[in-house]
Amino acid sequence: MLDLLIRNATVIDQPSPVDIGCQNGRISLVEPHIQAQAETEIDAEQQLVTAPFVDSHFHMDSTLSYGRPRVNQSGTLLEGIALWSELKPHLTVDDIKQRALTLCGWAVAQGNLAIRSHVDICDPTLTAVHALLDVRETVKPYLDLQLVAFPQDGYFRYAGAADLLTRALDLGVDVVGGIPHFERTMADGAQSVRELCQIAEARGLMVDMHCDESDDPQSRHIETLVSETQRLGLHGRVTGSHLTSMHSMDNYYAGKLMSLMAESQVHAVANPLINITLQGRSDSYPKRRGMTRVKEMMQLGINVAFGHDCVLDPWYSLGSHDMLEVANMGLHVGQMTGITEMRQAFNAVTSHAAEVLALENYGLEPGCNADMVILQFSQAELNNPIH
Ligand code: FE2
Repeated sequence: MLDLLIRNATVIDQPSPVDIGCQNGRISLVEPHIQAQAETEIDAEQQLVTAPFVDSHFHMDSTLSYGRPRVNQSGTLLEGIALWSELKPHLTVDDIKQRALTLCGWAVAQGNLAIRSHVDICDPTLTAVHALLDVRETVKPYLDLQLVAFPQDGYFRYAGAADLLTRALDLGVDVVGGIPHFERTMADGAQSVRELCQIAEARGLMVDMHCDESDDPQSRHIETLVSETQRLGLHGRVTGSHLTSMHSMDNYYAGKLMSLMAESQVHAVANPLINITLQGRSDSYPKRRGMTRVKEMMQLGINVAFGHDCVLDPWYSLGSHDMLEVANMGLHVGQMTGITEMRQAFNAVTSHAAEVLALENYGLEPGCNADMVILQFSQAELNNPIH
């Protein structure tokens, strides 16, 4: 007797629909016409069944704060940061929790069962940290929320950030963050990468830095991040988020850089919705798209995921946390229209993102967690579009 049986599931890489049997929270069988009985049976009606969506880059503390205290007029990253600084002193634990829980509800309703959220630690009261640690516990039964200690106003630039980051990690924040391109000098930025990677190494934690979120081709902190990953043996545990300056870099240098990223197994997270709207704001024409070199990185074997980054906050005035919208934008901006590339764009919000978060037992094979999403899309409808 199975706990759960999904019948008639269209599954990627399976030539015809299969049944998926689950027991004790794990997938036990994936095969056609399972004979066993189950406590709960769902007919997927040949719709696509996949492992859940995963958002590898989000900001849960600022979400749903759009218009407070006012709207970002220039549409730039820097005005967004300034706006957030205005709002920060007025935030309360309850306010952040309420907004974050609403967002988590939206996420789960759209099939997102894991989110990595950065949490701003540049606040003497660590209000957002306390709020999101509570939210992490509340949503645990149905959503994996991973938190990154993020020095939004700069690890060196904001007085006291180093102590606050330590306190946040002591309180249980999962991952070490950073923002080297926002430090006062390139040298400070590089030094912040070194110190933050050392903290992660000493504590056995992962690293995820906002890195080179700029149109400046000289912003090359990813180079230091890669070299620290290599030096400290952090292979597979480090993520460079945004990496938009790579869009504007010299091709020869970018080629060298990407091979170094592959060598040190640094993950890359692009945020297509945000990158396409925030970057290139100082350009006239032609206007740069700003998204990092997703297709080229994937071709080199670098694990690339897409994040949502923001929903209705100082940086982004749209969104509902629909990861298919993210994949759709990434596919268009990255010109990933080949069949394999479209598949990779889908992987960027599912399996590649799960790899960034180091989720265990993620997938749709026997032995994986019995977490899955049924999408309203079917092979039958594709084969018979008119009926
Ligand atoms: Fe971000």
